[in-house]
Amino acid sequence: MKKPLRFAVFVSGKGSNLHAIVDAVKKGEIASELALVFSNKPKAEAIKYAAEIGLETLHLHPRDYTNPQSYDRDIVINLKRAKIDFIVLAGYMKLLTPYFVKEFPNKIINVHPSLLPAFKGKQGIKDAFTYGAKITGVTIHFVNDKMDNGPIILQESIKVPEGETLENLTEKIHAIEHRVFKKAIAMYEQGRLKVQAARRVKIVPAK
Ligand code: GAR
Repeated sequence: MKKPLRFAVFVSGKGSNLHAIVDAVKKGEIASELALVFSNKPKAEAIKYAAEIGLETLHLHPRDYTNPQSYDRDIVINLKRAKIDFIVLAGYMKLLTPYFVKEFPNKIINVHPSLLPAFKGKQGIKDAFTYGAKITGVTIHFVNDKMDNGPIILQESIKVPEGETLENLTEKIHAIEHRVFKKAIAMYEQGRLKVQAARRVKIVPAK
């Protein structure tokens, strides 16, 4: 039998997506091994949860480094040491440097809570809501060296009904994320995502 891939999840916040990923690993919906949870924020609920359930965790503080590249270089050293094959950004709110991205080309997957390229940044749900968008959604994409910009793997839309509240919309978006993210991770590990020219990600059928 083929050895499972090893992956790291990067977090900065609450960790609801990490919870969903851990559940999916437990249920066998994701076959890869969750080998490391990394955070730039020591107090993030997500990293506390990871430690509590016995996952390998790592925290490095950006302020201990002279610049973003030296920070990322240290992360990469740790990832290589842990034999990480691919990386999942689950609410990681720090931009990866071009150096980092080059080390893991088309091996970093991000979840973003809007239909990219609309409402990039740190508060996609709130920005879409405040803008009055009537349709918003979730994007899963490969990471390149620009923020929320890499080739799109999956998107799912949702209508914003009249009278919707931000809280309710946030809950709905998270529920979509938790369902769609694990699907994309499973496609990735099965070798079903082919990044082609002109940003196209072709999804090939499961064998
Ligand atoms: C998620 O909604 C994710 O899409 C978003 O951060 C949230 C993390 O929630 N990421 C971005 O906005 C990236 N640009 P979580 O910590 O509960 O998983």
